[in-house]
Amino acid sequence: MTKILETERLTLRTFKAADAPLVAEYVGNWNVCSMLSRVPYPYTREMADQWIAGHAASPDITCAIDFEDAFVGCIGQDQEFGYWLAEPFWGKGIMTEAARAFVSFLFEEKGMHDLASGYKKDNTASGAVLQKCGFEVAGEGTLFCLAQDKQIERWEVTTNRHIWEKVRKDW
Ligand SMILES: CC(C)(COP(=O)(O)OP(=O)(O)OC[C@H]1O[C@@H](n2cnc3c(N)ncnc32)[C@H](O)[C@@H]1OP(=O)(O)O)[C@@H](O)C(=O)NCCC(=O)NCCS
Repeated sequence: MTKILETERLTLRTFKAADAPLVAEYVGNWNVCSMLSRVPYPYTREMADQWIAGHAASPDITCAIDFEDAFVGCIGQDQEFGYWLAEPFWGKGIMTEAARAFVSFLFEEKGMHDLASGYKKDNTASGAVLQKCGFEVAGEGTLFCLAQDKQIERWEVTTNRHIWEKVRKDW
């Protein structure tokens, strides 16, 4: 396990095999996986094991989030910028704190210039997190959601280094 970032309340670190039971429990919650595109439902412990093993090769771009020393969620830059948080921890500003730190990490440490993400049109909370991190709506589209087994309509959002340099002053 390697620490990647620390914020006031959070540690972002590489995943470890021992995270699998909680990944399975938290992502297996319909309220989480139905908002993600590439997670099947039901989501099993074996799937969590395989997913963690698959991320060992690129440990610094997909991070586990610890809050008060407990594993609570995930944030990463893969095909696009994305995240999830275990439902018991929603509404405490955790993902805004994690996502701002991670966006800064991608621009500062990883030399990225542009970031893209998207959220289901009824996912108000995720839209708010992205907006608070400097993402702006760039268009709308559809994406196949494995858990829901159907195409979902979503807002597509982007940000870039120029926007980040302006908005981060208020973070
Ligand atoms: C989206 C998610 C990460 C938000 O995490 P969180 O830590 O609860 O978010 P925050 O507490 O940082 O809240 C960010 C903003 O969203 C708002 N918000 C939070 N929950 C909300 C809700 N259910 N409805 C409307 N707004 C909400 C907050 O008020 C806050 O805005 P404010 O600071 O202006 O008040 C979490 O709900 C989650 O993991 N959901 C399931 C998976 C998912 O949607 N992943 C993203 C896929 S695009």
